[in-house]
Amino acid sequence: MKILGIESSCDETAASVVEGKRNEVTILSNVISSQIEIHKKYGGVVPEVAAREHILNILPVVNEAMEIAKTKSKDIDAISVSRGPGLVSSLIIGIETAKNLAFAWNKPVIGINHVEGHIYANFIGNPKIEFPAVILTVSGGHTMLVLMKGHGEYKTLGETRDDAAGEAYDKAAKLLGLGYPGGKEVDMKALKAKNDHGIKLPRPMIDAPNFDFSFSGLKTALLYKIQKDKSWKKKIPEYCLEFQSAVIDVLVKKTIKASLKNKVKTVMLTGGVAASRKLRSRLQEEAEKNNLEFFMPELCYTTDNAAMVASAGYYHVKRKDFTPWKKLKVDCNLEFK
Ligand code: KG4
Ligand code: ZN
Repeated sequence: MKILGIESSCDETAASVVEGKRNEVTILSNVISSQIEIHKKYGGVVPEVAAREHILNILPVVNEAMEIAKTKSKDIDAISVSRGPGLVSSLIIGIETAKNLAFAWNKPVIGINHVEGHIYANFIGNPKIEFPAVILTVSGGHTMLVLMKGHGEYKTLGETRDDAAGEAYDKAAKLLGLGYPGGKEVDMKALKAKNDHGIKLPRPMIDAPNFDFSFSGLKTALLYKIQKDKSWKKKIPEYCLEFQSAVIDVLVKKTIKASLKNKVKTVMLTGGVAASRKLRSRLQEEAEKNNLEFFMPELCYTTDNAAMVASAGYYHVKRKDFTPWKKLKVDCNLEFK
């Protein structure tokens, strides 16, 4: 079965064709037109600019994904598209494109929660995942711990009360005069740090008796530290390392605690922040120490892409869980349930 996935929730215009067979999803194409270079000069995503770029790019991107996959419209079984959460003016372009193609090609559509999309990045080429599983979803928009009992069966164990982890990275990078998106910049700079730096930032909510997170105070703590440190510009790698360690310590500790408490077999990591090498290796280490099976997506499926949306769509199609064409609407604040 072939699924066309479409993703446009933020600043990536993406389309992908995947092939689903039983419990396996294989990628036939994965095309991403990133707007990072355009938004870099503003230090963040400008919604109006993002929407204009999506409009220009969406059909060429879909076309390229179909060509690379050597797939004709008649061979597509369903169209899967992110319907939220995200920027309304960006999402609407993916949704309207999916609707139009579904209408013209006479295909069913599935509206996917973008967070569910990130989760399904783990199912790409990986049929071995055993439930129940705990998934740490960390991106620019979300920080969530989800208990997954089976396909489509989720319970949110905890989430951020303020900034998402990726958002915190982006804001920290801005404070330190680094570029956008901040996660990668902080990650790279931290590699050059001296370990005995003596800088100490808090680990917010690390011992709280719940699985929620809070990262906005961490960014403020970083701001106060550099305001008091006249030579902070000479210690940017060290500040990056300490910031990164603070975020990762909290994420790893709470993910393992949630996994043990819920007696799961599997731990998974996903979302843009899952591109962090340090987070990948720390969570893997801790999961293995606790005899938990650990999975994470390949790097190319961590940040926003349409292959993950198509992968999630395949499992909806398997359950015959389609979205009535006329009811497919953007929900920019869509909750994950
Ligand atoms: O999943 P994503 O592409 O978009 C959302 O759904 O939000 O995630 C983007 C986020 C950004 O905040 C970016 O700074 C962060 O992922 N990110 C990273 C790394 N690469 C991207 N954070 C930490 N380390 C990285 N290497
Ligand atoms: Zn995302």
